[in-house]
Amino acid sequence: MQYPYQIKTLEQYKEEYQKSVDNPEGFWAEIAENFQWRKKWDKVLEWNFIDPKVEWFKGAKLNITENCIDRHLETLGEKPAIIWEPNNPEERTRVVTYSRLHKRVCQVAQMLINNGVKKGDRVCIYMGMVPELAYAVLGCARIGAIHNVIFGGFSSQSIADRLEDSKAEFIITCDGAFRGGKDIPLKSIVDDALIGNKMVKKVIVYTRTRRPVSMIKGRDIWWEDEMDHALFQIEKNNEVSFPAVEMDAEDPLFILYTSGSTGKPKGVVHTTAGYMIWTTYTFVNTFQYQPGDVYFCTADIGWITGHSYIVYGPLAAGATSVMFEGIPTWPDAGRFWDIVDKYKVNILYTAPTAIRSLMAHGLEPLEGKDLSSLKVLGSVGEPINEEAWHWYDEYVGKGRCPIVDTWWQTETGGIMISNLAGVTPAKPSWATLPLPGVQPVLIDEHGQEAHERDETGLLKGNLCIKAPWPGILRTTYGDHERCRKNYFATYPGLYFTGDGALKDEEGNYRITGRVDDVLNVSGHRIGTAEVENAINMHTSVVESAVVGFPHSIKGQGIYAFVINEKKPHDEELAKQDILETVSRIIGPIAKPDKIQFVSGLPKTRSGKIMRRILRKIAEGEMENLGDTTTLLDPAIVNEIKENRL
Ligand code: WTA
Repeated sequence: MQYPYQIKTLEQYKEEYQKSVDNPEGFWAEIAENFQWRKKWDKVLEWNFIDPKVEWFKGAKLNITENCIDRHLETLGEKPAIIWEPNNPEERTRVVTYSRLHKRVCQVAQMLINNGVKKGDRVCIYMGMVPELAYAVLGCARIGAIHNVIFGGFSSQSIADRLEDSKAEFIITCDGAFRGGKDIPLKSIVDDALIGNKMVKKVIVYTRTRRPVSMIKGRDIWWEDEMDHALFQIEKNNEVSFPAVEMDAEDPLFILYTSGSTGKPKGVVHTTAGYMIWTTYTFVNTFQYQPGDVYFCTADIGWITGHSYIVYGPLAAGATSVMFEGIPTWPDAGRFWDIVDKYKVNILYTAPTAIRSLMAHGLEPLEGKDLSSLKVLGSVGEPINEEAWHWYDEYVGKGRCPIVDTWWQTETGGIMISNLAGVTPAKPSWATLPLPGVQPVLIDEHGQEAHERDETGLLKGNLCIKAPWPGILRTTYGDHERCRKNYFATYPGLYFTGDGALKDEEGNYRITGRVDDVLNVSGHRIGTAEVENAINMHTSVVESAVVGFPHSIKGQGIYAFVINEKKPHDEELAKQDILETVSRIIGPIAKPDKIQFVSGLPKTRSGKIMRRILRKIAEGEMENLGDTTTLLDPAIVNEIKENRL
């Protein structure tokens, strides 16, 4: 498969970028010709950022799985679509060719239909990183069911909240998941989430770890049995097929919950055609994927990076994608390098937090690993610090692999600002230039387009986007007003990202981090309000305030200031109880790194917590706390400072 829309030179990038701004409809219509449609569109784009309303390729009919699988069968049928590396390196690798993927996805589609799943129904998927997770996602897409994948690190309570918000009637899960030395009891976590739930009709359980699980008659069924039965039904004349359901371009493809500045995660909704084109276009251009390349994205499918750049983008481009069940440091910190060596990986896409954690293990794990197959390296999820960038460049890329620093979000569906590997220039810790179709703008503190450069020639502001690109979120599930308020109301007429950024004179962007109350812990988004809510649920807690602080590996750590009803007898134990509570309510990923018991919080006379002060204290910046005279009780600041952890 060749990619006529792959940009090859800096000149061409500039031309394409200009075209995409001058005539977005013409630009994207031309790219859309490279996909398979049941019916072409009536109108390429209709939009306003007031409602907001965005419709791409309206009136077109398609199924994304025909684009990701069926259309490749003739030429790539026997080529690997997914190469699966198990958690335990001693276990057998699984190579899933495009024709095998086709068969499995058809089986899942039939299995879902057999169990009463219909187009538009929500299917919640809570699985480890096994190929069956990809089959489940694509099986949903094949029949037009809306998948909602929940990362395996979320708790029962988080699952319960998502099930309720999305009104899901179906779940696909595993008995357990292997991750490093752990066996996570997924089914049992789902069981807890289902206590009191009256909506869920079927739970399909894939056996991975074969740990004992409870199976409730009439509700819980085994994946293996159902898949066998489905295969029997769809095998005809030596062929296996399940016709894909025809979808409208704007039919929802999936919901993915993500944290914002309020306590409750929102269900970001992506639709079919625009998302497909955006993920494919950005995949092919950013990584400069060439047919036959082996590509390895280390993300989990439970996050947007896995959706867009393990499943949809690479498969629609007919790529070979490595999927890894385990973690980078198990059985030792050389695991990524073993995988690169074993499968001769050409493109590696990972997160700064993983790079930093591997850096901390020194160079020994890299010794004797052949990394010469690598051509392109990628980074995603948080700003990459210069030290990590140089380590990645020098010891992994051996100075000869361009690094793409890809800035984007769950809401953007795909990569927005990034250099294109080897085509447009890289600049350490700068995401650099916008992809064609993306029109960023920086807004200053007066709500105007920033135009005053500082002494070093940089513009600074809140990062917004002026016009829709095909992968933009369409709504937040069940609550369009929330979508409007969150993303389109701060600066009327603009999409607001929640990130701050700098722009240099060449037009390069550097993302400086979130400007709202969202933390980025190990590349995962966590809302401070969400963590506070969880801490406050602990019986002895009166109030809490959560802020981020710089963490050498995670990027940001979570610092919680907690007021207890009375001074705990055993502080350590009291902290453990709080951690356990947070684990139960959100999941282990949201556990604070530091908990400081305080007797009060710095509040204004109107009762608002001055987070700025807490943030500075957490960061260790004790001197310049700014004006504290407006505080109700200025003395509290000294107490907090003295007892800082
Ligand atoms: C941050 C992950 C700097 C940013 C794809 C954004 C980044 C949030 C980068 C989205 C990058 C992501 N440089 N910051 N290259 N990539 N971010 O929704 O703050 O999990 O708003 O999507 O991660 O996180 P999300």
